[in-house]
Formats: sequence, C-alpha cells, structure tokens
Amino acid sequence: MKNIKAIIFDAYGTLFDVNSAAEKCKDKIGDKWEGFANFWRVTQLEYTWLRSLMKRHKDFWQVTEDSLDKSMKAFNINPSMKKELLDLYKVLSPFEEVPETLKILKEKNFKLAILSNGTPSLLNELVMSNNLNDLFDDLFSIEEVGIYKPDSKVYDLVIRKYKIEKNEVAFLSANTWDVSGGGNYGFNSIWVNRYNSVFDNLDYKPHYKIKDISELTKLI
Ligand code: LAC
Repeated sequence: MKNIKAIIFDAYGTLFDVNSAAEKCKDKIGDKWEGFANFWRVTQLEYTWLRSLMKRHKDFWQVTEDSLDKSMKAFNINPSMKKELLDLYKVLSPFEEVPETLKILKEKNFKLAILSNGTPSLLNELVMSNNLNDLFDDLFSIEEVGIYKPDSKVYDLVIRKYKIEKNEVAFLSANTWDVSGGGNYGFNSIWVNRYNSVFDNLDYKPHYKIKDISELTKLI
C-alpha cells in the first residue's frame, strides 16, 4: 500500500469489543452470555440494513435498544438487566492492541478517523471513556447522511472531508460486509480477522487480511 494519507477504522467489533458488555455480566447471565451477545449483535446489524432498505431510519442507539429487547426475550434474560447492558454498551472496551497501535500510527502523521454507524455522542463517549480521544482527527458518523453502512454515501463522508482519492485511504473493519462495502467503494480494504472467520461470498475479496490492528504498522 503506497500513498496512504488516511487510515479509517470501523468502530464496533474492530476497535471496540461488542461482546464486552454481555461478558461483564456473565456472572448474572450465565453460560449463555456469548450466544446472547452474538444474537444481539446480529439482530442489531439486521435492523440497520432493514431500516435502510425500508427508509425508516432510527439512530444506532435506538436500534441497539430495540435489538436488545428482542435478544433478551429470545434468551430469557431478566428485564432488570437491560439498563446495565445498555450502560456498558456506551463504554465498550477496546481490543488490547488498539491504544498502542493508534499511538504509533499517529506519530507517523496519518489522518486517523473512525467511520461508524454509531451516533456522534456514542462515538464521543466510546473514545473519551477509553482515553483515545486525542488520537483521532475525526469521528465520522452515518447520522450525517441518515443511512447505514454499506451505503456508499457513508464511505463518501471521508473523501468529502479530506479531499483525497479513494485509493489514498486504508479502510479497516472486522465486519466482513463492511470490508466489502468500503472495498467496493474504492478504498484499500483491510479485513481484521480476529477470530479466524470465513469471508463473505459477495464477489469481493479484501486487499489485505490481518489478525489484529497491530499488524497494520508492518503494512503501511
Ligand atoms: C460500525 C459497525 C458496523 O461501527 O460496527 O459502523
């Protein structure tokens, strides 16, 4: 990858561990916590795609709550847990290597930004609660365009703001469909494959595949 000017990260699942909210409640939820966390995440994403297709936008915080309600019913979780799970979702933990890697990249003078389905206030709280706020130039939220990933209007936000070419962007996501979305748009796509997963069959393959974001420092 040459001439990279901006490194753009997906937030949920890529920099921040979406399962960490349910994991922190595993004593109360019991063994089913991981199945529940995965179901919540998949339902949340389905709702983003369905709402975009139906043109019935609700912001990511509302979608997160709606999908939590369904998931708690499906997994028979005591409704008294709802507030705790939602509060924890606002302060999800970053994956271990994230803070140090961001510092290294920042010193190399790349533009660093998040591009996420999250609302501006959710993204702010995520980076503030983890002391990562000084490391990012921008937190791009889909709320600016009112439609969820992988609509191309979302990826356009970066190009419009930085006035650079698509191939001057390295776009990282752990979400395979988001890698396809950003890659189809024209970004250099990097799949962060933390869990040895299988890539999608969407007639698209990522430019690069890494295990965690620390490997990026060798690529760029
Ligand atoms: C995001 C979701 C896709 O942060 O993880 O946009």
